[in-house]
Amino acid sequence: MSIPPVSTTPPFNITRASHVRYYVKDLAESLRFYTEILGFVISDQDADVAYLRGIEESCHHSIVLMRTKGEPAAECIGMRVGSEDDLRRAYEYLNANGGTAEFVDRPYQSLSLLTTFAAGAPPIELCSGMPVVPRLLNNFPAQKGGRVLRLDHYQCVVADVPGMFAKCMELGFRPSKYTTHVDTGQILSAFLTRKGNPHDLVLGQAAGPRLHHSSYVVSDLQAIFRAADIAGNLGYGRNVEHGPGRHGPPNGIFIYFRDPDGHRIEFILPPMQFMDPEDLPNTWLSTQSVSLVPWGGGPPQRWREEMTKFAGIEPSGGTLARWTSMG
Ligand SMILES: [Fe+2]
Repeated sequence: MSIPPVSTTPPFNITRASHVRYYVKDLAESLRFYTEILGFVISDQDADVAYLRGIEESCHHSIVLMRTKGEPAAECIGMRVGSEDDLRRAYEYLNANGGTAEFVDRPYQSLSLLTTFAAGAPPIELCSGMPVVPRLLNNFPAQKGGRVLRLDHYQCVVADVPGMFAKCMELGFRPSKYTTHVDTGQILSAFLTRKGNPHDLVLGQAAGPRLHHSSYVVSDLQAIFRAADIAGNLGYGRNVEHGPGRHGPPNGIFIYFRDPDGHRIEFILPPMQFMDPEDLPNTWLSTQSVSLVPWGGGPPQRWREEMTKFAGIEPSGGTLARWTSMG
C-alpha cells in the first residue's frame, strides 16, 4: 500500500521527544519510585512539582511530576524544536491548518508552545530550549537504581491512526515501522521519528488520545534487572508489568514499569540508528505477531487497555484496549 509522503521541508523543525508532564497524587512516593528504582536525578523540586532527568541528559528535565488532588493524568508530552522561530512558524501553521497552538510560560524552559496537531491528537508542548545542567554519566556516586540515561519516545493511542500518521508526515516525521490490517490495509500502528533513531512518537489504535507509555534508554541488561530487583525490594514488584522481553526491530529489549499512579514507563536498550533517506520502514501485517514480541507470552491485558489520560480530555472513538498483533 502507499503511505503519505514525508515532507522534506516541514513548516517547522521538531528535533526530538523532550519531556513529559505527569500529575501524581503523592509527590514524595513518586519521587522515591523515580529516583530509587528507575534512577532519575532531581534537577529541582518544591512541595508541588519536581523536575527530573536521566544521568546522560544535559537539559534541565525530561519528566515533570506535579502534585494533584485530582486524578492522575498527563498534561502533555513534549518535543524540542530547533529555535524560537520554529515556534512562531508552528503557531501560525497549526492554528491555520486544523490544529491548536498557544504560548505557555514554563519554569526552566525557553519559549514554549502547547499544541495539538489535529482534532483527536494528544497535547504536545513544543519547547525551544532549557537550562544546561551537568551530565552525570561519570558521576558514579550520584547514580541509583536503573541508572536511566535519557528519554527516547512516547507511545500514544489515538482513534484515527491513519489521520494522525498523515499529519505527522506533513510535519516532517518519518515512519521507521508500521503495521497494516491484513484485510483492509488500514494503518493500525506506526513508529514515527525525527531524531535519527526509530521513534520519537509511536501511534497505536484505540480510544484516544491517551498516553500508553514514556520510554527511556538505559545502558544495558544489568540496569533493567537492577531496577526490577529494587522495585521488588521496595514493595513495587507487581509494578513490573511486562518483560523483560524483546520487541522485533529495532534492538528492542524492553521492560515496562507502572509508577505509583499507574503511569507506564518503559526502559529500552539503545535503539539502532535510522537516519538516511534510503532507510526504509519495516512493514508488518496485522497477523504477524513477531512484530511485537517474537518469543514468550504477549502483554497482559492491563498493558493493552490501561493508559494515562490527558488532563481534561475524555478518550473517544474506539475500544479501550490498544490494538496489538498478539490478538
Ligand atoms: Fe515504547
